[in-house]
Amino acid sequence: MCGIVGYLGSRQASPILLDGLSKLEYRGYDSAGVCVMSDGVLKVAKAKGRLANLFGMIDGGKAITGTYGIGHTRWATHGAPSDINSHPHIADAGRIAVVHNGIIENYIKLKEELILKGKHFHSETDTEVVANLIEYYYDRFQDFPRAVRRAVAQLEGSYALGILCQDLPGTMIAVKKESPLIFGFGEGENFIASDVPAILKYTRKVVYLNDGDTVIFTKDSVRFYDAFNDPVERVPEMIDWDISAAEKCGYDHFMIKEIHEQPKAVKGTISPRIRDGRVVLDDVNLTREYLENLKKIYIVACGSSYYVGCLGKYILEKACRIPVEPILASEFRYAEPVMGKDTLVLIISQSGETADTKAALEEAKRHGARTLAIVNVVGSAIAKEADDVIYTWAGPEIAVATTKAFSTQLSVIYLITLHIAEMIGTIKEEEYQAIICELLKLDQKISLCLTPEITAKIRYYAEQYFKVHDAFFIGRNVDCGICMEGSLKLKEIAYIHSEAYAAGELKHGPISLIEEGTLVVAVATVDSLFEKTMSNVKEVRARGAEVLGITTENFETEIKKTIPSVVSVPKTHPMLQPSLTIVPLQLFAYHVSLLRDCDVDKPRNLAKSVTVE
Ligand code: F6R
Repeated sequence: MCGIVGYLGSRQASPILLDGLSKLEYRGYDSAGVCVMSDGVLKVAKAKGRLANLFGMIDGGKAITGTYGIGHTRWATHGAPSDINSHPHIADAGRIAVVHNGIIENYIKLKEELILKGKHFHSETDTEVVANLIEYYYDRFQDFPRAVRRAVAQLEGSYALGILCQDLPGTMIAVKKESPLIFGFGEGENFIASDVPAILKYTRKVVYLNDGDTVIFTKDSVRFYDAFNDPVERVPEMIDWDISAAEKCGYDHFMIKEIHEQPKAVKGTISPRIRDGRVVLDDVNLTREYLENLKKIYIVACGSSYYVGCLGKYILEKACRIPVEPILASEFRYAEPVMGKDTLVLIISQSGETADTKAALEEAKRHGARTLAIVNVVGSAIAKEADDVIYTWAGPEIAVATTKAFSTQLSVIYLITLHIAEMIGTIKEEEYQAIICELLKLDQKISLCLTPEITAKIRYYAEQYFKVHDAFFIGRNVDCGICMEGSLKLKEIAYIHSEAYAAGELKHGPISLIEEGTLVVAVATVDSLFEKTMSNVKEVRARGAEVLGITTENFETEIKKTIPSVVSVPKTHPMLQPSLTIVPLQLFAYHVSLLRDCDVDKPRNLAKSVTVE
């Protein structure tokens, strides 16, 4: 949440900052701003709303001269989205400028103290407090790094900060605690950013800063300090993916691009981990002895990642015969769950920085449980903290609504399932091989869910249903998990009230909401439960619901006897079927969103990585 970028070099800074912010807008888009050292003063431009407003205001950056500065794109926490609350924030006497991602928990106390010391405030933000606190110490010490150190020592909460001091030209300081921050090395220029895409056009050589790190840099030099303020070496990594991965490449939106990237992404997750017909998880250290004594698996996550966990329950329990409990990270962290050495906690997070998920991970570790994280963003906090990590290798996901990250997380669940089941002997070799065979074809089968014919069909149904006020998604077993994800997609990007239910649960209450014209999306792919779900479909149709059916090819003729509107997907091994079933639901949400004129990639009130509780 919130994106920050900093540039220090010889080129005009503002266009570079705006370009960086355009790659970070997924982190928040309530307002944007830049501050550039221009003719000896800290010049600020900021505007409420999308980056385009700021872009227009400063002529794409050309209107502000100067070769170094900081930029910010905001997801509002403290204070409404407004020009005044936008970052960067300048301290009272105009000497210090700050951009901030995170939350300062003790900002009210600090603000009161600073007011008593004569500082004036203009915004409602916690960030303005940081700027003034640094300036307060700068006034005392006349030493920029020392002032930053003293101020930061007083901050409670999370922060990635980019800081400029008007009196120390050509120097920038960045600090990281519990919010992501990278440092990028250029030739005669250096960068900071919340995420790699912001600076990938200029450099591939980056350091993922550790918690507590401070970086003091000019265009030609950089010094890293750890949490104890001792100078440290930080070894740079080379980014090996291309900037095109973070661009639309001819697609209208990132979401549709990422939907179409799923075959490649899933293949990239699965195939390097299958060798000679067996799952090989080099990345994890789960011994046979540990797995044989395992009493319980928790799957802890938020949002769509949690729905992967709900699917994981059906998948893992069936194959491994170990109790599995999916639980929302925001609940897990305060629920005092029963766990210890014989508990495995799977933590799922695309961003690797979701605040609740990270706290849940810490809670699990405190109780001695083993933690295994499934993460997309390399070097993220959750990836660093978990005992083991399996990267999904989905590449950057820019659209706020997840698609390819979801699919690759699910792929990792399949791999973990096969790995555990084989280790503890709960799967027959024949079954194991049947799943491996289908796993290796999964990418091709996902491609078959993305053909122009299927897309046209879904677009047609989207046109029929895009005006509905309410939607219900019903299904059983893994179809129920897929319903949760399909329903979330529709509500988050098309702003339609939508709920997902286990189909058998409908008549215990929710069916009272079904009336003439209510949309029910019925997902029926599980062979043994097909007829049961069809009974529920008949019940809602009898009460006037419009039903859109999602099923597998083998049921197409059968389902059409009950429902005229049907999309069918290829069949695969039942364990892997959710990877195919989800695709038409992603496409449906996408097309409904377009027809309702919503902002597909940046839905209202949301941001990509949720670093606040
Ligand atoms: C929905 C979506 C969110 C995330 C959730 C967790 O499309 O993307 O529900 O799944 O915020 O985020 P991560 O996986 O980054 O922890």
